[in-house]
Amino acid sequence: MPLVNMRDMLQHAYANGYAVGGFDLVSLDFIEAIMAAAEAKQSPVILSLAESHFEYYDFRLAMQAAELAAQRASVPVAIHLDHGASFESAVTAINAGCNGVMVDASQESFNGNVALTQKVVNMAHQCGVPVEGELGYVAGVEGDDAEKHPGDVVYTSVEEAKTYVAQTQVDFLAVSIGTVHGRMQGEPVLDFDRLKQINDALNIPLVIHGGTGLSDDQFKQLIANGVAKINYYTALADAAGAQMCANVKANARAGYTGIVAGIQDAIRNEVERCMDLWGSSGKADAVLSVSEKWMPVHHVIIYNVDIDDDAQVRRMMSEGETVLGKIPGVRRIVTGNAVQENAKYQFTWLVEFVHENVIASYRDHTDHVAFANNLFRPVAGDRISIDYRQNHF
Ligand code: 13P
Repeated sequence: MPLVNMRDMLQHAYANGYAVGGFDLVSLDFIEAIMAAAEAKQSPVILSLAESHFEYYDFRLAMQAAELAAQRASVPVAIHLDHGASFESAVTAINAGCNGVMVDASQESFNGNVALTQKVVNMAHQCGVPVEGELGYVAGVEGDDAEKHPGDVVYTSVEEAKTYVAQTQVDFLAVSIGTVHGRMQGEPVLDFDRLKQINDALNIPLVIHGGTGLSDDQFKQLIANGVAKINYYTALADAAGAQMCANVKANARAGYTGIVAGIQDAIRNEVERCMDLWGSSGKADAVLSVSEKWMPVHHVIIYNVDIDDDAQVRRMMSEGETVLGKIPGVRRIVTGNAVQENAKYQFTWLVEFVHENVIASYRDHTDHVAFANNLFRPVAGDRISIDYRQNHF
């Protein structure tokens, strides 16, 4: 089960002078191609789902596929929410299985950015999930011509970065030093002095957004100055697009499978090139040996009720499914009745937590405390509760 803690993965990259790709996916073809590249190169990899792309695919469906791909992999994988815009986005992503989240409040005022990031970090860390923040502003839109959405690049200030990281406790920082999202015309000019100063001041893994269009030498200098994660999308989308155009040109009557033929190879070749260039190729075993495995915990309760009112018991269970299912770190909640009429315990709750940390944060969460004290415990005096670590996926 090679889903691993993304903090351990990126700490290893940071300490060993290479960068892991955070490759944004928009379809099954991307997932398969990225994972095939990671296996071929024995590289750690981050499957990244950008909130701005959720209009192109069903996030929950894609999460199931990403998670299954990670579970089947032999290389270490993390699943990351890219550019999450709100606290609610972060909770939804964690409960759906992301084990890394980005909170992007970089267009807010400094204080607004700090406030939202602190709130997300506090919640995510209680779920064992590391957080990437962004300070400064990387303009442009993934998958489009950067020039069409210039905005103003706002460079990350070294002083603000120190305060931001100290106040928010983010695990990784996305910095703005001259890259833009999307297709570039010409070579971007990067401020490496600024990057070096930020790295010296912070000593945490740094992240570069807008990886498309940078030169080999620029990538090397970024990594030499603390960049341990590189976000990459447009070049993959363009490689797939070029293949589809070529397919149509070769056969104007091509159907769906004819049009998309070969795009996985096109994406995979580009991902493999990046893995070699960024130095993550061949690091899979080393990362696995230092990383916490990302395994859920099952909170199991079996109980009997002291009342005869079946409708009240059903209402209590259904209220619990709704309220408790929204608590950060709860992946799944199932209520059940015993199959055997003479079973020693007649009812059950099965609550799946994303990580062991959630045992404590769930127990103390106000919604859980209110539900347990007002609706559950008064009728379920006879009960057994145990948390089980899952051994295998
Ligand atoms: P590119 O699309 O420029 O590669 O940037 C991707 C990115 O930064 C995703 O967050």
